[in-house]
Amino acid sequence: MSTIQLRTLIPGPRSQALMKRRNDAVVQAAYHATPVFVAKAEGALIEDVDGNRMIDFAGGIGCLNAGHRAPAVIDAVRRQFDRFLHTSFNVLPYESYVAVCEKLNAIAPGKGPKKTLLVNTGAEATENAVKIARAYTRRPAIIAFEDAFHGHTYMAMAMTSKTHPYKAGFEPFPTEVYRIPYAYCYRCSYSMQYPSCGVFCAKHLEDTFKRVVAAETVAAVIVEPILGEGGFVTPPAEFFPTLGEICRKHGILLIADEVQTGFGRTGAMFACERLGLEPDLVAMAKSLGGGLPLAAVTGRADIMDAPASGQLGGTFGGNPAACEAALAVLDVFAKQNLCARANVLGERFRKRAAEWQNHWQLVGQVRGLGAMQALELVRSRLTREPADDETKQVSQYCYEHGLVTITAGSYSNVIRLLMPLVITDAQMDEGLDVLGSALGHVAEGKPALTAQPG
Ligand SMILES: Cc1ncc(COP(=O)(O)O)c(C=O)c1O
Repeated sequence: MSTIQLRTLIPGPRSQALMKRRNDAVVQAAYHATPVFVAKAEGALIEDVDGNRMIDFAGGIGCLNAGHRAPAVIDAVRRQFDRFLHTSFNVLPYESYVAVCEKLNAIAPGKGPKKTLLVNTGAEATENAVKIARAYTRRPAIIAFEDAFHGHTYMAMAMTSKTHPYKAGFEPFPTEVYRIPYAYCYRCSYSMQYPSCGVFCAKHLEDTFKRVVAAETVAAVIVEPILGEGGFVTPPAEFFPTLGEICRKHGILLIADEVQTGFGRTGAMFACERLGLEPDLVAMAKSLGGGLPLAAVTGRADIMDAPASGQLGGTFGGNPAACEAALAVLDVFAKQNLCARANVLGERFRKRAAEWQNHWQLVGQVRGLGAMQALELVRSRLTREPADDETKQVSQYCYEHGLVTITAGSYSNVIRLLMPLVITDAQMDEGLDVLGSALGHVAEGKPALTAQPG
C-alpha cells in the first residue's frame, strides 16, 4: 500500500472551512506554506482534517529531526505532565534544565569548558548570543551575512538579510549591524569563481575592517554554517577556517547559528563539525525540543558568564516539559544513530536530483550536506534567472499530491528538504517520486495536474 493516501482533493472541505475561520480570526501576516489543516502526525507522516495522508518533507521547518511524536519524547513529556508544568527556572529551578545544559555543554561545538542558557525560540537564542558577546567583549558591532536569517524579533531582524517579507515596513532596526557577502558561490557577490577566488569573500573581512567598521569595535560575527532560509547555501571547505582565523586575530567572537542546521540535519550533530567552524557561542533551537519550543545558547564558560545574575532569562525559558523532551531527543539521536541516517537520506536524494538535473534546465543547482539538501530552480542555466513562480508551482503540485514541502532563498526559488530523519526508505522514495513528477510538470510547462483522490 502506498503511504500517501488522498481521500479528497487537497485542500479538502474541512481544511477549506477552517481556512475561512482562519482568515477571519488570524492575522494575515502569519503565513503558512500549505492550505491544509493537520489532524495528527507520526514519524514522517501527516494526516489532515479530511483524512488525507501526506508525507512530510518540512518537519515543522526542521523541528522534527527525531520525528513527529517520537515515542521516547511523548513518554518523557507525559511523565513531566504528571509532575509539574511550570515554576519558571527564575523562581524554582528543576533538574531537567540543568541536565539539558550539561548535555549541550558536552556536545556543542567549540573548545574548552562550556555553559548554557535555555530560552524558547531561535530568535531569542540569536538575540541572547549577541547580548552575551557584547557583555564579554564590551564592543558594540555585529557582523552578519547577506542572505542570513536569524529570526523575527528586532535584533534578529536587523541581522537578517532578506527584505521582503521579513524586514520591509518594520524599519528602523537596531544599529551596529554590518553585512558582508556569504560564500554563495552560485551567485557570488564578487562575480568570482571557486576555487580560483581563494575564498575572497572570507578574506575580504579584513577590507571591511578598514572601510566599513573598525575591527576593535566588533563584538561578534554571527553566521549560519549553511544558510537556512537563505536557501541551504553550503560554503566551500576553506570558508570557515579562513573566517575563524581573521576573527581570532582581532579578538572577535564567532557565533554559529545552528538553529536550522543543528541536531543531525547535516549528518553530524552540528554542521560546524562538518565545515571546520570553531565557534565561541552556538545558538540552537528547532529540533532540540522534539516539537516543543526550546532553544539554547551554549558557549565558552568565561564568555557565557560575562552577564551578571538576572541579566539573562525569561519566564518560560527552559520549560520543564520542553527540557524532558530535549533529553529524550538527545537519547533518540544516540540510540537510533540519526546522524548516519541523515547521510543515507542525503545520498538517496542526491541520486535522484542528479537525474532531474540532467533532464531539466529548471534544476540549476543541487546542494547541501547530509539530509540538509536543496534544489535551486532557475529559468535558464546560462543566466541563472531565479524561477520563483515555478518554485511555488512545484511546491503546490507537491502538496496537492500528498507531499508537504517548503521553499527558501532570497529569491524564493529554492526547494529545501527538512524531512524527519526517521522517515523510512519507502516513504522517502515515494516523496521523491512526487517531487520528481512536480519538477517534470513545471519544467515541461504543463499546468499542475489535479491529484485524484483514491
Ligand atoms: C538559522 C535560523 N536562525 C534563527 C531562526 C529563528 O528561529 P525561531 O523561528 O524559532 O525564532 C531560524 C528560523 O527559521 C533559523 O533558521
